[in-house]
Amino acid sequence: MTQRSARRSPNEGLESLATFPLDGAGVKKLTVLSAKLATERVRALVFRPTLEGGAQPGESLTLAHVPPLEPARLEDDDGPRARFEFDGHTLRAQVAFKESASFYGGGASAGRLLRNGRSVEFWNSDAWRYGESTAALYSSHPLALALFIDGSCAAVLADSPRRGSLAFATDGVEFAFEAEPFDVWLLQAPDLSALMSALTELIGAIELPPLWALGYQQSRWSYSSAQEVRELAAKLRSKRMPCDAIWLDIDCLREFRSFTWDSERFPEPERLLEELREQGLRVVTIVDPGIAVAKRYPTHKSGLEGEHFVLDERGAPVLGRVWPGVCCFPDFTRESTREWWAAQVEKYVECGVAGLWIDMNEPSVFRTPSRSLPLRAQHRGLGGGDHAKFHNLYGQLMAQSTREGLLNARPHERPFVLTRANHLSGARFAAQWTGDNQASWEDLRWSIAMTLTLGLCGQPLAGADVGGFDGDPSPELFARWFELGAFLPFFRGHSHKSACRKEPWAFGGECERAVKLALERRMQFLPTLYTLFELARRTGLPVVRPMFFADPCDRALRELDDQFLFGPDLIVAPVLEDGARKRTVVLPARDAEGWYLFPAELEGRSKDMLPPGRYSVDAPLGQTPLFARAGRIIVNKPSKLHTAAQADEDPVLHVFFDSGMRATGSLYEDDGLTRGAQGKLTTLSARILRGRVVIDAFVDGEEVLDRAWRVVAHGLKTPVKS
Ligand code: GLC
Repeated sequence: MTQRSARRSPNEGLESLATFPLDGAGVKKLTVLSAKLATERVRALVFRPTLEGGAQPGESLTLAHVPPLEPARLEDDDGPRARFEFDGHTLRAQVAFKESASFYGGGASAGRLLRNGRSVEFWNSDAWRYGESTAALYSSHPLALALFIDGSCAAVLADSPRRGSLAFATDGVEFAFEAEPFDVWLLQAPDLSALMSALTELIGAIELPPLWALGYQQSRWSYSSAQEVRELAAKLRSKRMPCDAIWLDIDCLREFRSFTWDSERFPEPERLLEELREQGLRVVTIVDPGIAVAKRYPTHKSGLEGEHFVLDERGAPVLGRVWPGVCCFPDFTRESTREWWAAQVEKYVECGVAGLWIDMNEPSVFRTPSRSLPLRAQHRGLGGGDHAKFHNLYGQLMAQSTREGLLNARPHERPFVLTRANHLSGARFAAQWTGDNQASWEDLRWSIAMTLTLGLCGQPLAGADVGGFDGDPSPELFARWFELGAFLPFFRGHSHKSACRKEPWAFGGECERAVKLALERRMQFLPTLYTLFELARRTGLPVVRPMFFADPCDRALRELDDQFLFGPDLIVAPVLEDGARKRTVVLPARDAEGWYLFPAELEGRSKDMLPPGRYSVDAPLGQTPLFARAGRIIVNKPSKLHTAAQADEDPVLHVFFDSGMRATGSLYEDDGLTRGAQGKLTTLSARILRGRVVIDAFVDGEEVLDRAWRVVAHGLKTPVKS
C-alpha cells in the first residue's frame, strides 16, 4: 500500500489573480494566486515569487494536499501585504497585516505559547538539554497563526523543506529560507474552526490512533532484559497501575542495531510479548535510522545491495557515528528505499511488536560539525538534491515509510509510530513527543505550550516525557508531572538511563498515590479523549487547545499557557509550582453561563455553577483542578488496568446542568483498533422529567434504547433520581 504522494506541481489548480513586477531586492515579480478551499468562509491566497533569472518555487515537498481550486477575486486593497527579498542566498517573505495580532505556532520550542517578538529556526536538530534560547528543535513547522482583535484569524505557511526561520512581529511574520524560492500560503478565516479545517486540507488529516496508544505508556532508557521487563509488568499489575504499553529503548537491541533483538538478554521475544499481551500490555520498540556498518547484519547487507543509503559526493554511502557505532543512513527520499525500509519493519514486527518509536531521525549524527549528515551528501529521490534540501524532511519520510511497514504487516490494524523529527504534514504518519526535556518545573510548564503549539500546527497526538527525561525530579515535581500528563494527548513516562528511577512507584508514599490517581484519571477520561481524537480527525481541531479557543476575543486569554482546554468543554489547570497547594484559574465568559469544578472524587457531585471569572482553587497533591462547562455532558468510564479492559464498562455521564436544566454532549466509539472501523457517534442530551434525570441518546438520528448510562448529575440543588 503506498501513501498518497505528498508532492504537488506548482501550478496544480491554482488561478493567478495578479502579478506585481518588483524592482531590485532579487525578486523579479510576485504572482498572487487564489485557491478555493472546500472549507467555505476561508480565503486562500498563494504568493509566488519569481527570482531574477526566472527561478520559481518547484514542486511542493511539504504540503500533503491541495484542494480543488478555482479563481477568486482580490477583493480589497486593505488585505495583508506580502514582500519578498532575495539576497542571492536567502529568500525572505514578509506578510504584514493591517492590524496587530497575537501570534502562535512555528512548532514545538521551549518557552511561551504566545510568540510575538520571538523567532524560531527550522533545522531539525538533536536538541539535547534544550531551553528557551535553543532556536531549532527536532521538527520543522513553518506555520504561523494570527489571531486578530475581533477573533478572526489567519495562517501563514511557507512551503519549503529547507533550512529557515520564522520571526513573529506584532503585525506580521517573516519567513526566511535558504537557496530556493518558495510559495507562501495565506489562509484568512472568520474563526478558529474554519481556519483549522482549512489548514487540515492543506497539510492532511490524522488517522485515528489505536486506543491503546492513548493509555499510559511506560518507558525508560535502560530496560535491558526480558527478566527486567517481566518484573516491570508484574509490578505495574500488582500495584494496579493502569498502563497500556511498555517501551523498549536501544538496550533491547543487539549492539544497538535497529530491527534486532539481543538474543541473550531477550531470548524469545515472541513469548515475552505474548505474555505481556495477556496482561494487557503491548510493547513498542525503538528504531533508529542509522544502520550499523557490520558484517552479518542483514539490514546493512540488503541496504547496500539495494543502494538504499545516502551517498557522498563520490557516490559512496555516507558514514556517521550514532549509538551502534559507524552507520549508513537510508535515503528515504527514494520510493524503493521506503519500500525496503517498510519491508524491514514488516518482518521485524512479526514477533508481536505493537508499534514503533522512531528516534534520532533528524538525523542525529555524533561528532560532526553539523551534528547531522554532511550538507552535501546526496539524495536521489523526490527529484534529487543535497542533504541541505532534504534534511528537514528526513524524519517525516522515515515516519511515512515506517508506518507503511506496519500497515503491510497488519493491514487492518491502525499503525502506531512515534517520531522525534517531523515536518509540517507529518502528523498523518506519526505521533510526536517533545524530545529530551529535563526534570525541572520550567520544563513541566513548557510541555504545555509545546504540546498546544504542536496541536495548532496540525499535530494533535503529542506529549512530553513525563517526569522529565534528563535529571532527577523531586517527588512533588514527579507527581505534578503525571497530573499534567494525564491530560496531554500522548502520555508516556520516560527517562534517561543515568537519571533516578521514574516508574510510577519510584518515590513511594504520597507521591505514588498521586501518580496512581493521575493514571486512573487518564483512564476515566479516555472516552472523552477518544471522542476528541475523532473530532480532530474530522475537523482539524486540536485535542488540547489554548484557552483563547474558548473566547478568541478575550485578550486576557491569549497569553495564558498555564491552563488549557481539553476539547471544548473542560479546562485543565495543572499545578506548575513547587510547594503550591492552590492556584488561580480563569474561567472564560463567552458561550459559557458558568463552569463547574469537576469533583476530585469523580463520583462526587458539584452543586454550584461558578460564573465566569478568576478564582483561586485548592490543588492538593493528587489533584489537578478541572472545570466543566455548564450545559455539557462529559463522558467517563471507570478506570481499568488497560484500555481494552475498559471496553465493556458502561459509560458514566457527568451531566453539568445549565440554569435551564439542560445539557448536551457526544461520545465516539469503535473497536479501538481496526482501520476504518465503523464507529458510532452518539449525541446525548439530558433533561429533568418528573424529578428524574432523563438521557436522550441518538446515533444517526435513531434513538438508542438499549443502553445503560450511569449518570452523575451536577448542578442540582435538591437530589433527583437518575
Ligand atoms: C535519544 C532519545 C531518547 C532515548 C535515547 C536512547 O536521546 O531522545 O528518548 O531514550 O536517545 O535511545
